[in-house]
Amino acid sequence: MANWHCVGRVDAFEVDFSEEVTLDGQVIAVHPTEEGFFATSGICTHEDERIFEGLLDRCQIECPKHMARFDVRTGAALSPPAITPLLTYQVELRDDYVWVNVPVGDRDDTGQSPTWNS
Ligand code: FES
Repeated sequence: MANWHCVGRVDAFEVDFSEEVTLDGQVIAVHPTEEGFFATSGICTHEDERIFEGLLDRCQIECPKHMARFDVRTGAALSPPAITPLLTYQVELRDDYVWVNVPVGDRDDTGQSPTWNS
């Protein structure tokens, strides 16, 4: 079941600077990119490092601890030492605000792919 949260005004984000939010107890990284907004789980799948503090460039974020890279559009782990993808969350822009869907129950109900509505 969809469970949308407003995480802030679009203009409060800066392209290629990820932010961290906690929604329903889940740490989530919001990634503003040239391709739009994306959201992933906020903790690196290799070890417990906060991913939003990493370098974000061309829709890839580099974990600040051991430099694994992830595609923020799909969550895919692109380079070791991480091999497990990040979870992704749907994102929508509604008027001037960014909304993130933190599904309740089965994630398949809402899809895994972020979306960007302009
Ligand atoms: S904690 Fe992220 S790559 Fe090791």
